[in-house]
Amino acid sequence: MIQDLKHIIYNTVIEANRKMTPGEVEKAVAGAAGIDRKTVKLAIKDLVSRGELGYTYLYGASFLEMSFDRPVRLSKRIVIKPPERAYQSQPGGVVVDIAGGAAFGNGAHPTTSLALKALDFVLSNNRRTETTAPLKGLDMGTGTGVLAIAMAKLGVREVLGLDIDPCAISEAANNIRLNDLTEQVAVSGMALEQVRTCFSVIVANLAYPTLRRLAPLFSAKMEKAGVLILSGFKGSASKDLMEAYSEHGFSVIREEMDLQWVCLVLRDHQT
Ligand SMILES: C[S@@+](CC[C@H](N)C(=O)[O-])C[C@H]1O[C@@H](n2cnc3c(N)ncnc32)[C@H](O)[C@@H]1O
Repeated sequence: MIQDLKHIIYNTVIEANRKMTPGEVEKAVAGAAGIDRKTVKLAIKDLVSRGELGYTYLYGASFLEMSFDRPVRLSKRIVIKPPERAYQSQPGGVVVDIAGGAAFGNGAHPTTSLALKALDFVLSNNRRTETTAPLKGLDMGTGTGVLAIAMAKLGVREVLGLDIDPCAISEAANNIRLNDLTEQVAVSGMALEQVRTCFSVIVANLAYPTLRRLAPLFSAKMEKAGVLILSGFKGSASKDLMEAYSEHGFSVIREEMDLQWVCLVLRDHQT
């Protein structure tokens, strides 16, 4: 299969702001790539047979979505899988079990995978892990709990996941149990303002206006020289966010893009 066509199909499925039927994907991809629908249909069939895309059924219609019913590697060390599937991790690897559900964060969205890659980077380069006080992590807008769980498995001793959605809180709690991390990871619906702890690592995959608004609060809740990972926004918002966070003592140490999505890693420079 032509690699470009595969990417166009993936991007169409991932970027859609609603579920798309196979027919809608075929039509959109054929139009975008200037290819006949029959070729696109065959390419989709191939991706489904390899387990990379899958069908979901809802209210009598079928939709085409990224398939996460098998282990999927999302960063150098992190693999996400459904709890019922076995996977033998490489030494040093991290396997995160995420049960199917309604909350955001099964790993399919670029904003989640960018945040996971950033966590992998930050926590493999953080020499404080073994030498000083145990790291404390915050996952703001935890969804399924995927980032909070990954943080704990990458060495953060104490992690808090916050979310405003009760469904997300319940699913995150279930995933934390499935990963045997109830001693290490807590999830709550409380407001960050009410949390007394400060954190050495904060990750937030949230919409741009929320990220912008949270700059002073993240700064207040950040330990000296802590690391902040921001995901969930597009390239057009990147410069503005960098400026907003630099006013609060942060500077960018890493920037990565996937499709139009951007993920920033910032370090706190307050004295
Ligand atoms: C894009 S999802 C990210 C989920 C997961 N962390 C991931 O990276 O895949 C954003 C989550 O943040 C939650 N959320 C939105 N605004 C929030 C806020 N102000 N405080 C806490 N959680 C929020 C939503 O309910 C949703 O579960």
